[in-house]
Amino acid sequence: MEFSEKVVLITGASAGIGEACALKFAKSGALLSLVGRNVENLNKVAEQCEQFCGNKPLAIKADISVAEDVEMTVKETISHFGKIDVLVNNAGVLLMAGIMDDISSFDSMLATNVRGTYLITQKAIPHLIVAKGNIVNVSSIVSNVAVPAIMPYCMTKAALDMFTKCLALDLGPKGVRVNAVNPGPVNTALFKRNGINDEVNNQMFENIAAALPLRKVSTSEDVAELVAFLASDKASSITGSRHEIDCGLHLGDPVLRA
Ligand SMILES: NC(=O)c1ccc[n+]([C@@H]2O[C@H](COP(=O)([O-])OP(=O)(O)OC[C@H]3O[C@@H](n4cnc5c(N)ncnc54)[C@H](OP(=O)(O)O)[C@@H]3O)[C@@H](O)[C@H]2O)c1
Repeated sequence: MEFSEKVVLITGASAGIGEACALKFAKSGALLSLVGRNVENLNKVAEQCEQFCGNKPLAIKADISVAEDVEMTVKETISHFGKIDVLVNNAGVLLMAGIMDDISSFDSMLATNVRGTYLITQKAIPHLIVAKGNIVNVSSIVSNVAVPAIMPYCMTKAALDMFTKCLALDLGPKGVRVNAVNPGPVNTALFKRNGINDEVNNQMFENIAAALPLRKVSTSEDVAELVAFLASDKASSITGSRHEIDCGLHLGDPVLRA
């Protein structure tokens, strides 16, 4: 896949799946605008990308739940590169909270996963139409698999899937494709940000892997391959679709299957 001269804006590029996407697009020659809140991590990822392709990414410290940050992100990307070909809406948070937990968890996940993604997409759309570009939304398998212990998170990802479909219908005639990637569990910092230590986190992932049909979990790099495919011209006929990458998790409950 070839992305030379293509400008790719990735939110949440400072860690995990977003970091893997940044490296994948860098290896394919893209010009990168990388967004995150942790400047130290963001700069490390930007340096690695530069080593791969020689192009220096634009690293933008921004919180996508803050409207001014979003506006500044798109403005800086345009003033630096002059266009946006691909928007990867990857930034997201998972708080371990269900229906009886404080509403602040719900508000905070909604603010980033849905509202922040919506805001940055709004600002990027005029530029994506000019470039006849595309959007890849990083959703989750739990948009369609109910997990009550993380109900608000599941709800935000279900919203992203519908956002993907509505946008695809709206923007298709304008030459812009929109797709969702729906990963199953990937061992990143996502769960550890809830205070879970490495040992507990790794044990949890071992248990999940043992229960999945493929007896493994996907890696951030696996997800980045799919994101890059959907963003590439090879996927020129694909829009409005959700793409599961979950080692078979969506096929059903491992207990019932046994
Ligand atoms: N890991 C999984 O099992 C899994 C499964 C399905 C879907 N996903 C989705 O994949 C995406 C990436 O998650 P991950 O697993 O890579 O988690 P991660 O390692 O925790 O990375 C999350 C990224 O999002 C950024 N971010 C979070 N809130 C932000 C905000 N308000 N503004 C800007 N950046 C923000 C973080 O940046 P800073 O650290 O710089 O703030 C970080 O770069 C998320 O949307 C997640 O829901 C993950």
